[in-house]
Amino acid sequence: MYEFPKGFFWGSATSSFQVEENNIYSDWWQFMPSGSATKHYEFYKEDFDLAKALHHNAHRFSIEWARVQPQEDNFNEKEIKHYKDVVSALRERNIEPIVTLNHFTLPNWLAKTGGWLNKKSVFYFLRYVEKVVSYLAKDVKFWITINEPMVYIYYGYIRGIWPPQEKSLFKAIKVYKRLISLHIKTYHLIHKIYKEKNLEFPFVSIAKHLHGFFCLNNNPYYRFIQNFKDYFFNFMLLDILVKNKSLDFIGINYYTSEFLPKNHPELKKIPKSDLGWFIYPEGLYTLLLKIKRYNLDVFILENGISTSDDNMRWDFIYEHLKYIHQAIENGINILGYLYWSLIDNFEWEKGFGPRFGLIEVDYATFKRKIRESAKKFSLVCKNNCL
Ligand code: BGC
Repeated sequence: MYEFPKGFFWGSATSSFQVEENNIYSDWWQFMPSGSATKHYEFYKEDFDLAKALHHNAHRFSIEWARVQPQEDNFNEKEIKHYKDVVSALRERNIEPIVTLNHFTLPNWLAKTGGWLNKKSVFYFLRYVEKVVSYLAKDVKFWITINEPMVYIYYGYIRGIWPPQEKSLFKAIKVYKRLISLHIKTYHLIHKIYKEKNLEFPFVSIAKHLHGFFCLNNNPYYRFIQNFKDYFFNFMLLDILVKNKSLDFIGINYYTSEFLPKNHPELKKIPKSDLGWFIYPEGLYTLLLKIKRYNLDVFILENGISTSDDNMRWDFIYEHLKYIHQAIENGINILGYLYWSLIDNFEWEKGFGPRFGLIEVDYATFKRKIRESAKKFSLVCKNNCL
């Protein structure tokens, strides 16, 4: 039996473009329209009923900036109100809302004028943040400014497989710097809004994707490469944000690890998900121990698997929770665990094939079906104990 700290947050996460229908004003819609996705925009209350029935007490979702501001000079009050209703629906069910302000997508009007490469993008983003945070502040404690900036930059500006489909190190570095300053400014803006409204301090962070880079032998060259990638991809950004005192806690997303050498016989023993990602819960543990040096609380904002074998999903959750518990025993203050995702959804360039959900979605009828793994996970949420 593994008991978790009192008040631990248990739940799951989604992002707007991946679950909401008709996000027609977003840059991704031009690149790859997600159609009706899961119709979560229409069915969010039903989905939250299921989360509640599964004993979740926290839920992370994102606001689609392009809905709120479909044109540069137009804020759509009706859409802002929608997200207030979403927050209220969670609160009514005693589920803590954790709100992401930017999860990979941009309004198309901004993308067309250079996206994050456009100097004015920071001004635009802060204006949007001011608008929605002021409106939702009373009911939201946890804010995530940007989801996985390094992943976004890697796919959008290095590999060029996501909008804006650039392959330029020069532009990638520019966007990297821009997102750092954007996060820091957003962090201070959110705190300012709460102060002005005489509200209790909010908890603001980023969702940092952590990827394990391990070496299975003593080859110094491989070790150097893995250590370099580990620093460059995982810790460089965190070092800067922590130094700038712009994180109230550390939000992390963890899925998988990679290994060198790629033909090492040990690798045959490590299972893989449907997407070919190694299932390596120990990797999360190692990363959590490294995060300890920042001396900040940690929140697991995403951890999940795409698989058609639901037993494998439960094993995945179980093993990761075991290591998270071990990290807690080792003195790391972990606030909560959110599984990715509450429901099957649009997996970016991979479309609707991958199945990450605790809840299955039938894309023909939009019917939801709770998976067995979700039921097992719900007992953990209910008892605060694995
Ligand atoms: C992203 C999600 C994505 C998930 C699974 C995370 O990196 O935040 O949007 O669906 O990984 O690939």
